[in-house]
Amino acid sequence: RKLVGKLTTGCEEFDEMMGGGIESQSITEMYGEFGCGKTQVAHQLAVNVQLPPEQGGLGGSVVIIDTENTFRPERIEQMVRGLSEKHGIEYDPEEFLKNIHVARAYNSNHQILLVESASELANELKDSEMPVRLLIVDSLTAHFRAEYIGRGTLADRQQKLNKHLHDIQRFGDLFNACVIVTNQVMSKPDAFFGDPTKPIGGHILGHTATFRLYIRKSKGDKRIVKLVDSPNLPDGEAIMSITTEGLGD
Ligand code: GTP
Ligand code: MG
Repeated sequence: RKLVGKLTTGCEEFDEMMGGGIESQSITEMYGEFGCGKTQVAHQLAVNVQLPPEQGGLGGSVVIIDTENTFRPERIEQMVRGLSEKHGIEYDPEEFLKNIHVARAYNSNHQILLVESASELANELKDSEMPVRLLIVDSLTAHFRAEYIGRGTLADRQQKLNKHLHDIQRFGDLFNACVIVTNQVMSKPDAFFGDPTKPIGGHILGHTATFRLYIRKSKGDKRIVKLVDSPNLPDGEAIMSITTEGLGD
């Protein structure tokens, strides 16, 4: 078993709550309402993972499985410029963009297949200067939710989602990579899915995701990140900000 890596979020409180950062060889689930910042955190981690360990990164590249077409290269550029300012080092946004491998997933089956493609790429890059050390699935659940409607299909959906998560966990183990998945929750009770405080995917996701983070909006650019049901860390809350420069304290 390889040594677990820790990836900085760029927010000190957040890192501390996570015991130093997002852990490799584990799935970290971020859930919350639309616009709470899940995709923003994902973008920031795609940048940070490329930093050397001395700067909180894992010196690696990233695969993003983008199911909602929300990846924005311009946002990466802004965040890299933000980091340049923060560290007093002139980073090249183009270099960072080269190490972000984005794959659009058109439906849930395609999404499942893309984990295989990600593994192939990670195998190719294993001994390179930028091995894949982060896998992002944003959103994990949107396609599943859209495709599996009606009570008759619930068990089927859970079974597929469960297998998908299994594949994703395996990726994390195999490549000593961090894995981030996002899951939108509704603001109001939903007739079909029930309790809005429980993310879609329900119990199965609850057991598989090692770290579960509930993100909610606060004042201005502030966000509250809550660590829920972690196996080895105390539950806690952290306040982060999302600004032009990216994630911060
Ligand atoms: P869903 O995918 O709809 O569930 O939402 P999400 O949780 O992924 O939200 P997302 O990460 O897209 O957050 C959107 C919010 O991030 C916006 O409302 C802004 O507050 C903030 N944001 C997005 N882009 C920028 C930016 O370029 N600059 C700044 N300062 N804030 C941004
Ligand atoms: Mg999003």
